[in-house]
Amino acid sequence: VDPQFIRNFSIVAHIDHGKSTLADRLLEVTATVSKREMKEQLLDDMDLERQRGITIKARAVSMLYVHEGQEYELNLIDTPGHVDFQYEVSRSLICCEGALLLVDAFQGVEAQTVANAYNAIEHDLEIVPVLNKIDLVHARPDEVKEEIEQTLGLDASEAIGCSAKTGLHCDQVLDAVIKRVPAPTGDPEAPLQAMVFDSVYDDYRGAIVYVRLMNGAIRKGDKIKFLQAGSTHDVVEIGQLAPARTKRDRLSAGQVGYVICNIKSLDMVHIGDTLTAAHGEQAEPLPGYEEPKRMVFCGLYPSDGQDFEELRDALSKLKVNDPSFVFEPETSDALGFGFRCGFLGLLHMEIVQQRLEGESDIDLVQTAPNVTYRITKKDGEELEVHTPTRVPDQGEIEKFEQPIVRVSFVMPTEYIGGIMKLCADRRGEFIRQEYLSPTRAMLVYDLALAEVVYDMHDRLKSITRGFGTMDYEIKGYEEGDLVRLDVLVKGDRVDALSIVCDRRDAETRGRAVIKKLKSEIPRHMFEVPLQAGIGTRILARETISAMRKNVTAKCYGGDISRKRKLWEKQKEGKKRMKSIGQVDIPQKAFLAVLETG
Ligand code: GTP
Repeated sequence: VDPQFIRNFSIVAHIDHGKSTLADRLLEVTATVSKREMKEQLLDDMDLERQRGITIKARAVSMLYVHEGQEYELNLIDTPGHVDFQYEVSRSLICCEGALLLVDAFQGVEAQTVANAYNAIEHDLEIVPVLNKIDLVHARPDEVKEEIEQTLGLDASEAIGCSAKTGLHCDQVLDAVIKRVPAPTGDPEAPLQAMVFDSVYDDYRGAIVYVRLMNGAIRKGDKIKFLQAGSTHDVVEIGQLAPARTKRDRLSAGQVGYVICNIKSLDMVHIGDTLTAAHGEQAEPLPGYEEPKRMVFCGLYPSDGQDFEELRDALSKLKVNDPSFVFEPETSDALGFGFRCGFLGLLHMEIVQQRLEGESDIDLVQTAPNVTYRITKKDGEELEVHTPTRVPDQGEIEKFEQPIVRVSFVMPTEYIGGIMKLCADRRGEFIRQEYLSPTRAMLVYDLALAEVVYDMHDRLKSITRGFGTMDYEIKGYEEGDLVRLDVLVKGDRVDALSIVCDRRDAETRGRAVIKKLKSEIPRHMFEVPLQAGIGTRILARETISAMRKNVTAKCYGGDISRKRKLWEKQKEGKKRMKSIGQVDIPQKAFLAVLETG
């Protein structure tokens, strides 16, 4: 295929602005998928994505479209719409020459519109502004155009107004892709150089690797090499996604497709890796390769210690499909044997947990999530800490660093004060304020990732009555005034309940945790003192008083079936409990640390 008749593009948008719907319409307009075949939201083929309404993993689809008598190959590369997958997004954007910046003509520019647009601009993509949902009576395309110009400095005068829902002007969107997005450059005669931008696992075929060819060509039977992974393989099949896998004999510079080579695990396929020929002249690795960065960690423990091996199997199975998630065995005094798991971010953590619940029926206890800390000890030792209990005692620490993120908030102007106060309370550093329009503004702050993980999103939504949006990017590590806050139940430290927080928040957090614990832990036959503190300094204290009567005493001795029911109920409750010392702590209590706001 002559590269001048290829266009590679993606759609970037804020959640719910209609990315999937537009993708569906484009497939229909190009007759790639007929209306009859069109299932709702074909590109999002995971249930979870549908539930949450977010495109999680990058996919690609090739379409053929005739424009002014010439047939073009249009490759739409879908980008995951969440900050947890920033690196994956950047790898997908590198495979494109242009991006449709899709903005809801009623909602206007939102935090992710800005973040995604900047991302695309940084990758030198040609940006084509598209206003979606112009069928809505309240659509305000002219104002939204102004917002785009104001915030992003883009020329929106030729923005296309369309309705992905009704199909209105969707053909104009394709015409704009052909006219405005540059054709890929790249030399089909040069050594093979292809960017791996995604991979999926197929039970029968193994890893299916999605690539964009930058230079050269690839054929079935070729011997190829992954430059970062260092492995070589025979190509068993190549093809394009239309959107089903469609075999081809050859793919060349500028094209997008899939490669299958009997790779047994996704662990061996690194997103951002470069594919080249195993023999003869080899290409340079493409720049920007990174190992996945796990920013959020939590402990996962089976409620029943017997399920440990089963949990290990379930985690291993998940990892086959998702190499960016990691786990290693961990022991807790409180929870027994379990695993410390690392995720790209909070959403990624939720996704993995939901899959785990969906695919196995192990009862799980999850500890509060925490970020990765860097600690330099007085003796010079440097540690990367994923577990609060691994934080050394205060006296041994020279330097305690945490990840900092730059957060952009977009909201109606009346909530500026509320968000500023929230950020000030969380010791955020003000970076800038911008007006998108007379009624909407953007605030940018640097904040500790731990604060964002804690409850930032919920607070934003409640302060702005749901009208505010946020997005963030990791900036790096900075020193903080951090401490390890421990929780003691009847004098025993509950390792699973330790958290790391800012020294100035320790007392408030400690009080809140203890109060919550008090309400979650049932009464025992004896008094249960609860304490929170830093080292030996106790900051908060509560006591659960002793229980007076036996539960069954209420049954007047008569009704045995009722008694049995009560016992069963207690047994059921016990299953989700962990005993520390002589105290039974219900599973819910382990999350109390996170939930207290
Ligand atoms: P994520 O996958 O969550 O990023 O969302 P998305 O951007 O893919 O949005 P999606 O396509 O799922 O659309 C969100 C909602 O907007 C759905 O309820 C669509 O039916 C609706 N929608 C999409 N396009 C239009 C449009 O042109 N007009 C109207 N009225 N509604 C639309």
